[in-house]
Amino acid sequence: MTTESRLNIPLGEAMFTQRAIRRFRPDPIPDDVLRDIMEAAIRAPNGGNNQPWHFLVIKDPDIRLELGELYREAWWAKRKDEGINGPEDIAPGKSSQRSAMRLSSEFASAPVVVMVCALAKTQGAMGSVIPAVQNLLLAARSHGVGGTITTLHAQVDERVRRLFGVPDTAQIVYCLPLGYPRGRFGSVQRKPLEEVCSVDRWGDAIS
Ligand SMILES: Cc1cc2nc3c(=O)[nH]c(=O)nc-3n(C[C@H](O)[C@H](O)[C@H](O)COP(=O)(O)O)c2cc1C
Repeated sequence: MTTESRLNIPLGEAMFTQRAIRRFRPDPIPDDVLRDIMEAAIRAPNGGNNQPWHFLVIKDPDIRLELGELYREAWWAKRKDEGINGPEDIAPGKSSQRSAMRLSSEFASAPVVVMVCALAKTQGAMGSVIPAVQNLLLAARSHGVGGTITTLHAQVDERVRRLFGVPDTAQIVYCLPLGYPRGRFGSVQRKPLEEVCSVDRWGDAIS
């Protein structure tokens, strides 16, 4: 069987149920599954087919613990930039932010983290990694593996670079914790299409 044939849940189901997963079971992700996910990531469209990316797949539990500490610091640094200084500043109704906050202390519980880097010298590199990340998440969804896109913060960038030997020519763009979900993949909730899409002229409704 090929990677292509193993990624075989219906495309619609994958796209409509690929929600941010932030709580993970401890079960490891088998290497062949990880390979399928990464093979899908690198099939993504990208500017000029320059493939200006590098993916660091982090499995080592001790390194994940170190990264987890840095992730927590980065998450709170981002919140401080927004004027949020502690859990008490996050409204109870902000469920996605509360779930992101919990992830910030449980980051190392994800059995795998993929750090997505853009090769900074290539023009448009940042834009090119985005389709690769979506391919990665959809392939993961097909294998029953969940995850979410996260970002770090300038405050920890140097230490993360040192931890993984990231060269100066690369920029760390996203950090994706991955694992089998605790709980279910629910359906994705979004604004109605009419609110965000027009046909021919801004404001003219789609039928
Ligand atoms: C560019 C980008 C950055 C994100 N950063 C974070 C993050 O730092 N932490 C986090 O837990 N989720 C992060 N997310 C996930 C979003 O919060 C999530 O996709 C959004 O709330 C919609 O949730 P849903 O996909 O489960 O419907 C990010 C998503 C994107 C696209």
